[in-house]
Amino acid sequence: MNKHVILYKKLSAPLMERLQAQAEVTLIEDPKTPDGLARLRDALPHADGLLGASLKLDAQLLDLAPRLKVVSSVSVGVDNYDIDYLTGRGILLSNTPDVLTETTADTGFALIMATARRVVELASMVRDGQWTQNIGPAHFGTDVHGKKLGIIGMGRIGEAVAQRGHFGFGMPVLYHSHSRKPAVEARFDAQYRSLDALLQEADFVCLTLPLTAETEGLIGAEQFALMRPETIFINIARGKVVDEQAMIEALKNRQIRAAGLDVFEREPLPADSALLQLDNVVATPHMGSATHETREAMARCAVDNLLSALAGERPKDLVNEKAWSSRQA
Ligand code: DGY
Repeated sequence: MNKHVILYKKLSAPLMERLQAQAEVTLIEDPKTPDGLARLRDALPHADGLLGASLKLDAQLLDLAPRLKVVSSVSVGVDNYDIDYLTGRGILLSNTPDVLTETTADTGFALIMATARRVVELASMVRDGQWTQNIGPAHFGTDVHGKKLGIIGMGRIGEAVAQRGHFGFGMPVLYHSHSRKPAVEARFDAQYRSLDALLQEADFVCLTLPLTAETEGLIGAEQFALMRPETIFINIARGKVVDEQAMIEALKNRQIRAAGLDVFEREPLPADSALLQLDNVVATPHMGSATHETREAMARCAVDNLLSALAGERPKDLVNEKAWSSRQA
């Protein structure tokens, strides 16, 4: 019997062709609309595999898919999935690490530069015809090179941010992570700090850790109170790692200098968000990995993982190892 795959994200023509050569494919481009969701619910009973991103796939929805063997996410983050539920049913979950590491670290640095040097604000001034004389201290930014870069979460992306800071900008690197990373310390001369010490000491506090039950709300009012008026806060991880209201207060009261944010509690960020009223915020639309090359590489990786799983092989980027072992037993 032909395998049936539901795509809830559009693929490039070559990837679509590859997938269609191996499986019957149903494309649902708008799964978040009532109509798209209804079509998804109709297709789930026949699905052997799912491939997509940015959609909360909860147990209620997946209970409609008794044949499901694999969910292949086009993302590195897996906070949209109930991993215990998938594992309990022996459904493999795969993600797309590695291929997006450098691009996401580039985004982190874009936000560091944009906030410190006030790039968006000053470029808008020029565009609006407000550049009428040489700029003075009221428009000056702050240096990036040589400042202390504090990274919270030293996984692949944290490491790539450290590499840029250390080699590119001569920044002393501090980090906080659930475990010490001797190789990172040796390579980037990085120093481990407790969370509180890092927040007090770093000039740039950059979040690169995953959203889990342990990290949700990790940075709140207490943590912003430890930062200094010079601190610049960067989030390229997940919005829910931060208490957004506490961050808004810290930015309003100039308890911290600025924030560069690619992720938010609610996405898309509502147009009436208080964050958008603040001139010391640079907000981008969850674009960490959003380049043509990287998004195609992620999609290719997700198709590879999906096809391996459908062929009964272990996907390269398997998230829930226990589901695989239970299938082998
Ligand atoms: C990821 O891959 O997790 C990115 O944040 C896109 O969701």
